[in-house]
Amino acid sequence: MTPADAALVKSSFDKVKPIAADAAALFYGRLFEIAPEVKPLFKGDMSEQGRKLMTTLAVVVNGLDNLPSILPAASALAKKHVGYGVKPAHYAPVGAALLWTLERGLGPAWTQPLAAAWTNAYTTLSGFMIGEAYGPTAAAE
Ligand code: HEM
Repeated sequence: MTPADAALVKSSFDKVKPIAADAAALFYGRLFEIAPEVKPLFKGDMSEQGRKLMTTLAVVVNGLDNLPSILPAASALAKKHVGYGVKPAHYAPVGAALLWTLERGLGPAWTQPLAAAWTNAYTTLSGFMIGEAYGPTAAAE
């Protein structure tokens, strides 16, 4: 993740913040459409879950230019997800639903370099989280 990529992702996320509740609803709608098997894993209130997701994403986005600062929290979060029944293979549809949501939320502000920067950010983060939670072999799969 280059500093330029981090800056791109950060400024785009600022545009999503005002529509965070809608974005979260769009995200889960899309996720359950492309990966219906994960729906039973979510047992809590979905608007509360959406708020947590957007808050965490904001922390991650702000930490992109200083990755070591967010790795301990990302590692702990990944391990907690094992207890929720999350499997390594679930990270890909979650990433796809996230990118789909950003594309819809940002409209014309969703450009190719921005898509590449977000893909890079999510791939890096999810690879790290999978490695921490399931071991390096799972992360390479
Ligand atoms: C970058 C990746 C991810 C981030 C930032 C993230 C963020 C979060 C946060 C902040 C929570 C609430 C944690 C708590 O308060 O205990 C949570 C819970 C949860 N996440 Fe994730 N998550 C990610 C990936 C995933 C993936 C890949 C799945 C797979 C489907 C998933 C499914 C869940 C479930 C099932 C819960 C618990 C919901 C409940 O209690 O009803 N998450 N996530």
